[in-house]
Amino acid sequence: MQIAPEQGAFMQLLTAAVGARRAIEIGTFTGFSALCIARGLPGDGSLLCLDINEEWTAVGRRFWDRAGVGHRIELRIGDALASLRELPETETFDLAFVDADKTGYPAYVNELHPRMAANGLVLLDNTLRDGHVLDPQSLDDRAIAALNASLAADPRWETVLLPVADGLTLLRKR
Ligand SMILES: C[S@@+](CC[C@H](N)C(=O)[O-])C[C@H]1O[C@@H](n2cnc3c(N)ncnc32)[C@H](O)[C@@H]1O
Repeated sequence: MQIAPEQGAFMQLLTAAVGARRAIEIGTFTGFSALCIARGLPGDGSLLCLDINEEWTAVGRRFWDRAGVGHRIELRIGDALASLRELPETETFDLAFVDADKTGYPAYVNELHPRMAANGLVLLDNTLRDGHVLDPQSLDDRAIAALNASLAADPRWETVLLPVADGLTLLRKR
């Protein structure tokens, strides 16, 4: 389920290039994408990871420590939407990466919007769904196809869908 290596390298570079200090990830699995984002943060930067699965994310913790970035990463276990809603709107992020349940993406995007800093960047993974957004086969495909269409017309964000790996959408908060 983890992102492709070139996507990880791209996300690390992007995190550093936009000067992100505070980041959030929704959907951590065994920690590879988090490792890439954490590596792009400055020494005093921080990444909040939200995931529902304790067993998979425990793998990540070991490797974050081995890579020397464990101190930059906080992991919260639980339903990501509930965890997000518990965050005060005054707590802002420079960069967010969303890679969890696909039907949850619209709600994640809405909850993230007030919590993103001006010019903050939200990255959405799997927005091409292996091409199935053009001919949706599943509930997940339909959810992402509908989200792509609504984001293209959403004035709150400047949007680009890059054909990187399985599709990576970048949203800049206007
Ligand atoms: C595709 S994997 C993430 C892969 C990870 N970003 C990487 O590159 O290694 C999706 C993750 O989302 C988590 N997830 C699914 N539904 C969730 C929910 N409602 N709340 C929190 N995490 C959820 C799963 O436990 C899983 O670890």
